[in-house]
Amino acid sequence: MRTIIEPFRIKSTESIHLTTPEARAAALKRAHYNVFLLDAKDCCIDLLTDSGTGAMSTAQWAAMMLGDESYAGSRSWKRFEATVKEITGFAHVLPTHQGRAAEGILSETLVKPGSVIPNNSHFDTTRANIEYVGGKALNLLCPEGLSTQDQSPFKGNMDVAALKDCIAKHGPEKIPFCMLTVTNNTGGGQPVSIQNVREVKAVLRQHGIPLVIDACRFAENAFFIHERETGYADKPLLEIAREMFALADGATMSCKKDGLANIGGFLACNDDVWAEQFRNLLILREGFPTYGGLAGRDLEAIAVGLKEALELDYQVYRHATITYLSDHLTALGIPIVLPPGGHAVFLDAKRLAPHIPPSGYPGIGIVNALYLEGGVRSVELGSVMFAKKDAQGNEQPSPLELVRLAIPRRVYTQSHFDYLIEVLETVWRQRNRLPAYRIVWQPEFLRHFTCHFLPCEA
Ligand code: F0G
Repeated sequence: MRTIIEPFRIKSTESIHLTTPEARAAALKRAHYNVFLLDAKDCCIDLLTDSGTGAMSTAQWAAMMLGDESYAGSRSWKRFEATVKEITGFAHVLPTHQGRAAEGILSETLVKPGSVIPNNSHFDTTRANIEYVGGKALNLLCPEGLSTQDQSPFKGNMDVAALKDCIAKHGPEKIPFCMLTVTNNTGGGQPVSIQNVREVKAVLRQHGIPLVIDACRFAENAFFIHERETGYADKPLLEIAREMFALADGATMSCKKDGLANIGGFLACNDDVWAEQFRNLLILREGFPTYGGLAGRDLEAIAVGLKEALELDYQVYRHATITYLSDHLTALGIPIVLPPGGHAVFLDAKRLAPHIPPSGYPGIGIVNALYLEGGVRSVELGSVMFAKKDAQGNEQPSPLELVRLAIPRRVYTQSHFDYLIEVLETVWRQRNRLPAYRIVWQPEFLRHFTCHFLPCEA
């Protein structure tokens, strides 16, 4: 059959509050033109994130009822640990309440002032955790990853030559570990090939530098390898994931993505000394090592979800939803990152609103227009999120100005996508009238979450 259907039926529903244009205009103003500050009930289609927003399966809900809430050594912990070990092969598993807690423990333990941490592209919380303890977070994405139109299959790959230069420049003693983010969220959700993981590991091995995988979307990455990398078409996704993790020394994970759970994460590694140090901080910040930041029922839901994310039928459907959206937008002429990533479609704000300079945050102009037009909540991944300050304190724009339409897992149907396409088409037709925005208040860290904007003509 040509038609790919959702490989599930819907057993439970949640109402969507349909809003009017006037109500949306008022809500956006109240939220200081920052969609992070909107009430969720005022969003018809919420594509702010694919993190923690997925629908759980009946198997996950059933597993939650088996949650063993014992403080230490619960059955739920055993199931969680066994599943993570089965998939990753790592010797030590530490449960955390979400991905950034794992990043925090990793950074606080291993990153010193002056340390340099290369990555294909750091996610914002990873960067913030590294910088918070005085490290430098370096992005070494391959050049094709910076092009929004290059059709290369693995645009999330690390630039191996740049990694070699980085090690030569800073010296291996300054690099406590190197990271690879799969898929590469910040660079458009693009995949990393096994070949690239292998090459990165080979370089690191020569210098004794460990490799840590940011594994949030490891199953989507495994699916891309299955589809695009020579020799993997017949391998189960679990086997592909295991092969990737076998090349690494550790991983940070947000189970809110490919754990198909609403909360949770873990930090995993092979090194006994690391594990001991991580465990000490885990107890201080998160909880006893057999529950970390999680309830027993959360551990159960994640143990089931991690395996469901590796089911081929699920990934085929997941990819088909993204392709449905991206094909329609491409047919309308709307500039998006191509090929589309694994968890989201990214609009190219630079090309969509070329009249707005990076200093006027074109991504925010588009995000706010999508909300006003149809109650669609998206997120800017551009200069608001990633701009850096130069030595004079001037803002250096992000190389890419993107708007992310992140697709929650197993949540929206095809008619929701059709509505979304209609909203995007309407905004596209009005693109020349989108306003620039300026920031009128911002916090010191991770400003995109809470800063206040005003449209420039206001
Ligand atoms: N790494 C990557 C690549 C991520 O995308 C995220 C979260 C994290 C780490 C942190 O995980 O949220 O569980 O603490 N990304 C979400 C997003 C927030 O919307 O992309 P967390």
